[in-house]
Amino acid sequence: MNHLLHLKHQDRIGWIGLGEMGYNMANNLQRYLASLHLKLTVWNRTPAKSQKIHRHGAHVAKNLEELVATSNIIFTSLSNDAAVEEIYAQLIGYAEQVEHSIIFVETSTIYPTLATQLSQKILSLPQKHSYLQCPVFGRPPVAKAAKLIWVTSGGDEKIIKKMCLYFTTMSKSIIHLKTPDVAKACSFKLVGNFFVVGSMEVLAEGLTLAEKSGVHQEDVLKFIEAFFPAPAWLEYSRKMVDGHVSGKDSGFSVDLGLKDVGHMRQLAKEKDASLPTADLAYSHLKSVQDKGLGAQDWTSLINPLRTASKLPSMTGVAPVIEHEERHAAVATAVREE
Ligand SMILES: NC(=O)c1ccc[n+]([C@@H]2O[C@H](COP(=O)([O-])OP(=O)(O)OC[C@H]3O[C@@H](n4cnc5c(N)ncnc54)[C@H](OP(=O)(O)O)[C@@H]3O)[C@@H](O)[C@H]2O)c1
Repeated sequence: MNHLLHLKHQDRIGWIGLGEMGYNMANNLQRYLASLHLKLTVWNRTPAKSQKIHRHGAHVAKNLEELVATSNIIFTSLSNDAAVEEIYAQLIGYAEQVEHSIIFVETSTIYPTLATQLSQKILSLPQKHSYLQCPVFGRPPVAKAAKLIWVTSGGDEKIIKKMCLYFTTMSKSIIHLKTPDVAKACSFKLVGNFFVVGSMEVLAEGLTLAEKSGVHQEDVLKFIEAFFPAPAWLEYSRKMVDGHVSGKDSGFSVDLGLKDVGHMRQLAKEKDASLPTADLAYSHLKSVQDKGLGAQDWTSLINPLRTASKLPSMTGVAPVIEHEERHAAVATAVREE
């Protein structure tokens, strides 16, 4: 590495991954840094997605090597374990060569063992780098509103305290697991997502029974609003009844959902716990994916239940915008700004 930098006291923050979650989180952080006349350095595999945040003042790194050389804090938000593994293999390679220490903050939903492996590799380097596993709860619109629930693990009290300054720019609450065991945060996230997907499974079954019984769906929604006014219940029941999700804030795909539900089932198996509701949700999501509809919002898990009950599919469940279309949308948005 020929552009080694001796970082001063001031934090220099890098961000990798500008997807549905990453962009919204990074943008809020960039807004905070801009108020201090500082800027985030970003990198995304698809360069077009970096342009919008560049317009908001962020610096776009030429490559990962530059980002590592110029950052002493690096956040990552990546789709799945394979992406996290691939990017961290490169990050660790560069982190081995710098003279400064870096705090890595991994926010993706990944399997606990991967977090442990990454943490061990990073902590074994002589630079005294740190690795925090900090999964987040909340969908992209929640990330945009800086109202995520942030979970912390890894590091020590001093590092977590310092990093909270940045976490609060993206979240409404922070749950500190107070443990160096980064696998715990991944398990915590999978338990939380189990409550979400379990709620969806219950809602899908109940709404299907209501329709078969001639009970008006809008009346069921009124009951949910009065009796179970939790955001996830309100949002997912409304989506299932309306049969569509809107535009860019289209939520969570069946493909990503299967990753999470697969992980929670694997964790349950590994820990000798039983998770039958996740098994059911998995089979419904898988059946949607097998039809080539893995890009649909995961509320479409209601459709296999409807089919089994001889009801028509909710065809209005809009597909999550495909990557290519998203890139085109970003390019258009940039041109229009
Ligand atoms: N969406 C949600 O509601 C939600 C909520 C909480 C947590 N999460 C978790 O947050 C993470 C990000 O989710 P998301 O919804 O933002 O996903 P997303 O929109 O699909 O974005 C994924 C990001 O990962 C990058 N990526 C994927 N494979 C890569 C690779 N091999 N090398 C480099 N970059 C790669 C993508 O780059 P490109 O732009 O080049 O494709 C993109 O920046 C996931 O782990 C997800 O489970 C999501």
